[in-house]
Amino acid sequence: MSFFKLPRTVYFQRDIIDSLQDILSKENIRKILIVTDKNVLTLVGKRIETALGTIEREYFTDVLPEPTIGQIQDGASSLRSKEFDAIVAIGGGSVIDFSKALAVKISNPQADLGSISPFESINLKTKLVAIPTTSGTGSDVSFGVVLSNKEGKLAMGNYELVPEIDILDSSLTPTDRKIVVATGIDAFVHSFEAIAANTSSAFTDAFAERAIETIFYNLKGAIENEEQAKDLMHISATMAGIAFSNSGTASAHALGHSFGATFHVTHGTSVGLFLIPSILYNSQDPLTRDKYLRICRILNVNDIVGLTKKIDGFFKSVGQPSRVRDLGIDEDYYRSRVDQLVSLSLRDSELAFNPVLAGEEDLKKIFVDTY
Ligand SMILES: [Fe+2]
Repeated sequence: MSFFKLPRTVYFQRDIIDSLQDILSKENIRKILIVTDKNVLTLVGKRIETALGTIEREYFTDVLPEPTIGQIQDGASSLRSKEFDAIVAIGGGSVIDFSKALAVKISNPQADLGSISPFESINLKTKLVAIPTTSGTGSDVSFGVVLSNKEGKLAMGNYELVPEIDILDSSLTPTDRKIVVATGIDAFVHSFEAIAANTSSAFTDAFAERAIETIFYNLKGAIENEEQAKDLMHISATMAGIAFSNSGTASAHALGHSFGATFHVTHGTSVGLFLIPSILYNSQDPLTRDKYLRICRILNVNDIVGLTKKIDGFFKSVGQPSRVRDLGIDEDYYRSRVDQLVSLSLRDSELAFNPVLAGEEDLKKIFVDTY
């Protein structure tokens, strides 16, 4: 059954966070749990407190990067027997994912967080409101939730976890160049992957195409902290999130996850490394090739090779590496890890969405060639 799932309302405007009381009141939300981390609290805690006015609130501020199932269980048990109209997540992907899982556990204390799946209802008893403070992950509009346990990362999802309300205010986003580049490249890759994914549709293509164009022309400005560029990057990251949440990501994410976990490289940087090889590999598929040719027209180039050159130039202009060697990783050491990278990639669930069935030898070649 094909369907396309969106938040019910997306509020977007610079400084809209200052109208938080009005927004929540309009949505009939009177009692909230704010979930955030210490960093966000230091940067914008006072501003949020002022903006909330008479809204009844509690805070949960102990979210750490890459949240674990144990941390969520502890958090939920400290909040047991309390009821909230909404959980308001203010932060990056980890905070939003933590909030989704917390909403599951508060609604159903017996729920097994490790087995959240798209096929079983989770009966949320609280609304989810997302206020993302980075422009990239798409977690504010996605059905996905990434948690960790002893064995590593668990990527799960359920469409009831798409936040009901999304509030986009780019004044909350970082000025640190490295974060702006890595999150912006992640959103750029989400768009290309959403287009290539074998479950894409005209709906997801529309969001992804517009996100590619806007990110291509605005990431540089966002790095320089130009307000209009930052506003557009924030909206584009969400458009890319809507696209990939409804279609899936593909080979650049499968390979990027494996690379990032093996060499401890940031997610956006890792998936960016495998975007151009993925475009070249996936253009074997005639339908995907036609879709890439639409992107060629949007970015004003004639063919797929022209597209990859244009992306390479874009990467250089913002400081995103195109090759593994650009990261200073030793070639012999890298080659010694290729078999492991291949086996991790083959186990990555995102590879199932790739439009071309990628085998062991194909992946090996891509990894070796990307050095
Ligand atoms: Fe990503």
